[in-house]
Order: sequence, then C-alpha cells, then structure tokens
Amino acid sequence: MRRLMFLTGLLLLLMGCSRSMAKNEGPVLILRYADNQPMDYPTTTSARYFAAMVSDRTEGKIQIRVFGGGELGEELEVLDQVAYGGIDFSRFSLGTLSMFQPQTKVLQLPYLYRDSAHMWRVLDGPIGEAFLASMQRYGAVGLCWFDAGVRSFYTTEPVGRLEDLQGKVIRVQESELMSETIRLLGARSVQIPYGSVYSALQTHKIDGAENNIPSYQFTGHYEAAPYLFLDEHFRLPEVVLMSFAAKGKIASVDPSYVEVIMQCAKEASLYERELWRKAEQECEEKLKASGCIITYPDQAEISRWRNAMRGIYDQFAGEDAETIRQIQSQ
Ligand code: GCU
Repeated sequence: MRRLMFLTGLLLLLMGCSRSMAKNEGPVLILRYADNQPMDYPTTTSARYFAAMVSDRTEGKIQIRVFGGGELGEELEVLDQVAYGGIDFSRFSLGTLSMFQPQTKVLQLPYLYRDSAHMWRVLDGPIGEAFLASMQRYGAVGLCWFDAGVRSFYTTEPVGRLEDLQGKVIRVQESELMSETIRLLGARSVQIPYGSVYSALQTHKIDGAENNIPSYQFTGHYEAAPYLFLDEHFRLPEVVLMSFAAKGKIASVDPSYVEVIMQCAKEASLYERELWRKAEQECEEKLKASGCIITYPDQAEISRWRNAMRGIYDQFAGEDAETIRQIQSQ
C-alpha cells in the first residue's frame, strides 16, 4: 500500500501537469505555496505532490506553484502574508505558529508524546481536528499536519551531559516557549530565523541550536556544529494552512474544489509521513558518514533533561491541563 502511494506520488510529480493542461486549456487560478525548506525536502516534495494532485483533480483549473527555500520569506513573514491573503498556502512549524496561535503551545510541550505513533493518534483524532479547525481564528484554514520528527541539540563543542549545556548560547525559533525551555536547562537562548542559523554558528554568535535530523543535515549546520546530542526534547508537528482569500478564490472557480483541496491535503499528509520516515534514516546515515558525532544518551541522562524542563508545563500549560491529560492518556 505504502509502495503504491509512493509510486503514485512519483508519477504525479513527474507528470507535473494535468489532463486538461495537456489539452492546452490553461489554468483558471494560479496560487502560491510557501515553504522554507529546500525543494527536495520531505515537506516541499509533499507540497509538490499536493499541487500535482490538485491540478489533476481540478482538470488543470487550479495550479499551485510551490516556492521552497524561504524564497517567499522567513516563516514569520509568510505567516503574516497568509493571514492577509498575500500567500495562498504555506507549511509552518508549530514553534513559529505559536507566536500567532498561543493555544498551539500545548501541542509542543517537551516530552509530551511517547513516540511518533502516539503523536499521530492525537493529531489524527478529535484533538488534532479541533486544532486544525481553530486555525480559522487566525484567518486561515488548517488543511493537514506534516511530520517533522523530534528535535535535539547540536553544538560546536561536545555535549554529553546536562552540565555541558550550562551557559551555552542556543538558537531557538521565534517562540517564547522554546526560549523558556532553554533557560530551564541552564543555557541562554537567542531567537534567530531559520535562514540565518548557519552563519550564526559559523561566526560563533551561538554555540548551538536544536532541530530534527533532516533539517540539521539539509541545512549543513552539522559542518559548523558537528556534535548532535539526541535528547529528543520536542516532537514538533507542522501544519499546512490555506488563506481564507485562497479558499474564496477556489470556491469561485467551483465550490466543490474546496473539498477537493481538503482531500488532497489529507493525502499529502500521509505521503509526507512516508517521506519523513525515510529522510530521518537517510540523513542520520549521511551525518555519520560526514564525521558528525552523534551521542545517544541513556534513559538516566534523558530523565535529568526531562526533569529540568518540567517547569514549562506549569508556565505554559496551566489552563490546558485537561488537554494534556487527554493527550497523555491516548
Ligand atoms: C524545522 C522546520 C522549519 C523551521 C525550523 C526552525 O526545520 O521544518 O519550518 O523554520 O525547524 O527551527 O526554524
């Protein structure tokens, strides 16, 4: 089944155009989709898969152009644009989104999910659906979730124990929850947009950062910060949003196309999870081959990190105790 989905995806991406495009009818609507990852990253590849499906199922009338590599701006700028309808679709990390949607902080607390399967049970169930629906408060339609694995620390100097992080300057996303988590660990945080992290590492403005393995590998951050400490503190999902303006434009071409878009996004989400699984493994191998030093801490050490971060639950999740209880019981 997975193989079939993968092959179908590949075919759609290779075709890259729809049945009616072949008939030269041309699109009725051209929309823009932004992602800050390179074009061959799991999320952007899935965005192109989504775009190809939409084209195919709307007989070429709706064309979505995917702009990767942050071409349309850093995440915060793009978020603004989506809210005002300047950009039609985008994929966001929940870390950044929480600046605009504080209620999503509860979904990104450290060590909230036991593993990936646990997170997907939550996101694919009523809690995930309710959070997607809540995106309308922000003027956008929450289409689907994408996987972005777990985040760990990487540094310019070795880190093997909690003590090694003390006083270090660590880059975080533009997120107060992340800044506070770093403070609880005894380090200093600095909020820097994703596209500027590489130079901040190179110029020693920061001693390290934290992210998932594919991001660490794709960005080349490992060249400047070759020590990866797999504490896996944040499992941080990502969300694909469509602006209200885009929804209106799509409905004006054909009201049934809004549902087509929703369905294509759900399928793209499944496709992305597959790509993500593969990317995590492949990138870890590539990192090892590049001489990156990966530390796999034991449970006793992880417990120390976990305990240090525990206070964040009181600070950021006070009113969400019931949601946390529901998530943990799944
Ligand atoms: C991940 C995520 C990006 C985000 C980045 C960050 O790589 O996919 O969208 O910008 O984390 O740490 O800023």
